[in-house]
Amino acid sequence: MTVSIDSSKKNLTLTKSQEAFTAAKELMPGGVNSPVRAFKSVGGQPIVIDSVKGSHMTDIDGNHYIDYVGSWGPAIIGHADDQVLAALSETMRKGTSFGAPCLLENSLAEAVISAVPSIEMVRFVNSGTEACMAVLRLARAFTGNEKIIKFEGCYHGHADPFLVKAGSGVATLGLPDSPGVPKGATYETLTAPYNDFSAVEKLFESNKGGIAAVIIEPVVGNSGFITPKPDFLSFLRKITKENNSLLIFDEVMTGFRLSYGGAQEYFGITPDLTTLGKIIGGGLPVGAYGGRKDIMQLVAPAGPMYQGGTLSGNPLAMTAGIHTLKRIKEPGTYEYLDKITGELVQGIVNAGKRAGHAICGGHISGMFGFFFTEGPVYNFADAKKSDADKFARFFWGMLAEGVYLAPSQFEAGFTSLAHTSDDIKKTIAAAEKVFREI
Ligand SMILES: Cc1ncc(COP(=O)(O)O)c(C=O)c1O
Repeated sequence: MTVSIDSSKKNLTLTKSQEAFTAAKELMPGGVNSPVRAFKSVGGQPIVIDSVKGSHMTDIDGNHYIDYVGSWGPAIIGHADDQVLAALSETMRKGTSFGAPCLLENSLAEAVISAVPSIEMVRFVNSGTEACMAVLRLARAFTGNEKIIKFEGCYHGHADPFLVKAGSGVATLGLPDSPGVPKGATYETLTAPYNDFSAVEKLFESNKGGIAAVIIEPVVGNSGFITPKPDFLSFLRKITKENNSLLIFDEVMTGFRLSYGGAQEYFGITPDLTTLGKIIGGGLPVGAYGGRKDIMQLVAPAGPMYQGGTLSGNPLAMTAGIHTLKRIKEPGTYEYLDKITGELVQGIVNAGKRAGHAICGGHISGMFGFFFTEGPVYNFADAKKSDADKFARFFWGMLAEGVYLAPSQFEAGFTSLAHTSDDIKKTIAAAEKVFREI
């Protein structure tokens, strides 16, 4: 899809970004190191970032933006926070990687265990993908079963067994599956539409005794922002228990985002296992999986399920995580995020409706999304009814007004403690203007 952008009219000069991206395309596949960054679903070329601070980003042409991507979730206290940077430079003076135990691992593990209801023991890894890959092996090792149920439009990283009806970049690029994934790798992956009670029941009936786990984004962020229907998560808790299967919450995105204890605390449903990432690394590469002690004791070297990592528990990632969690644990964090994000989404949706567009949206704490459709949106099929071309025009219009949204209809947005009421007001004013133009 091509989107024409009259950048001179919009007062947006992107010359340096365009030169840098043209060069990047010769150096890296598609010019990027992660697909959604390439702006494929909104057309045009990505802007190349020079620096970030608080709620803002600056590109290499010197344009400033209010940022609602937040590095895809980690930046909950704002970018390049002074205290986190100070702590990082102190840690850095002692070295960047030990490949041996360090005290910082204990500190972050204690913080995670005391915060997340399901986690009695945790293993740190380097990305959300790695966490999901390992948790699946663990669920299979514990139950002795091989089948898993995942939901259409949910993204659990790019490991082979999850690249079936996946969200995020897979949805954005319209790849139903990926070439290179052997049939055998996804043979045991069963899928159901999100929020579909009877589809899950049917899968349990037709695969009696064979299902190791149900894995779910407890609030979806990877097909846009979609919340679970009342009772859907408690239904999954019940049916997994009845069938001796495990319930896994993939909280890579929702962990420490919806509340300090994640979606499981927010909804009061405790899974057996949980994956984390993003926020717990405070902007450095990290992931984690954890859960009941009897299950986690299977992980090597405590038990026989192998999983390891050269840079796992890296002191820099641990430091950024510890200081980020310390900050968001302070009273008022989630009330503030909920307030500003509610105002933001309501403001955008109202402005869109006033301009005559079909639009719906929602938020929980500092996570939000909106679709160009009347809604309601309960699953990926509903999300796909959103007018993607209109979203692309909206995206570019907002960019020209100095607002950086996720460059895809199928991604959630994020606010941070650094976003001010003024940022929100400016964003809504920009949306009012852009809605009239698209
Ligand atoms: C819910 C969820 N799980 C897993 C992942 C994969 O994490 P990573 O990109 O760190 O590998 C993501 C990434 O966005 C995610 O949102």
